[in-house]
Amino acid sequence: IDPAEHRRGAFIVLEGLDRSGKSTQAKLMEQRFVELNKPVKGMRFPDRTTPIGQMIDGYLKSKVEMEDHAIHLLFSANRWEAVAKIKALVAQGTTVIADRFFHSGVVYSAAKGNPALNYKWARAPEIGLPRPDMVVFLDLNPEETARRGGWGAEKYENGEMQMRVRQLFRDLGKKDIGDWSGEKEVIVLDAGGGIEEVAEAIWELVRPRVEAVERGERGSLKT
Ligand code: TMP
Ligand code: MG
Repeated sequence: IDPAEHRRGAFIVLEGLDRSGKSTQAKLMEQRFVELNKPVKGMRFPDRTTPIGQMIDGYLKSKVEMEDHAIHLLFSANRWEAVAKIKALVAQGTTVIADRFFHSGVVYSAAKGNPALNYKWARAPEIGLPRPDMVVFLDLNPEETARRGGWGAEKYENGEMQMRVRQLFRDLGKKDIGDWSGEKEVIVLDAGGGIEEVAEAIWELVRPRVEAVERGERGSLKT
C-alpha cells in the first residue's frame, strides 16, 4: 500500500460553553492548515442552514417550544444529515474542523436536568456517528463567558445551565473512549488566556494528532 494514496484527513472538534471563543479558534485553526497547504474544511453544529437546522434555530431563539427529547433528536439528526459529507471530505484527505459535534449534543441535553433524559439516553442516537480524532473542550469559567458580548440571547445561555455543561465536559475529560487506546473522550484545555495564546495551545494538542493521522497510524475514522 502506498500510504500517500490512502491518506485520509483528520476530524477535529472544538467544544466549549457559549461565547467561549470556539468559533474564533476554529477559524484560526483552519488558517494554520491553509498556511501549511493542507486541505481543510470548517463545519459547525448546529448547522442552521438546513431545514432541520432552522427548526433548531427557532428553538434556540425561543420562537418555538419543543419537548426535550424531540429537540435532542433534531440536534442529532442535524449531525446525521452531515455524515456523508464529513466522511467524503475525510476520505479525500481533507481535514474537517467542527465547531461542536455530538459531545455538545449529549452534554447540553443531559445538563437540562430532565429526569427522563439522562446521559445514556442522550448518547444513544449519536452511536455510529464518526468519532472525532480529537475533541478539545475550551474550558472557561461561566462568569467569564457571561461578560462577553451577546451572551444571554439564546436558550441555554444562563448561568446554571452553563455551570452544569462545564461540569459534564470536565467529567468527560476523565473518561476513556472505551477502546484499547486509553484516549480520553475530551481534552480539557484552559481557555482563559489571550486569543493567540489559546490558539497556540490548541495547535500544540492538535498538530501531533493530525500528523499521526497523516502517517496512517490511526487507521480509518472510527464510529
Ligand atoms: P452555537 O452557539 O454553537 O451555535 O450552539 C447553539 C446552542 O445549541 C448552544 O447552546 C449549544 C447547543 N447545542 C445543543 O444543545 N445540542 C447540540 O447537539 C449542539 C450541537 C448544540
Ligand atoms: Mg451559542
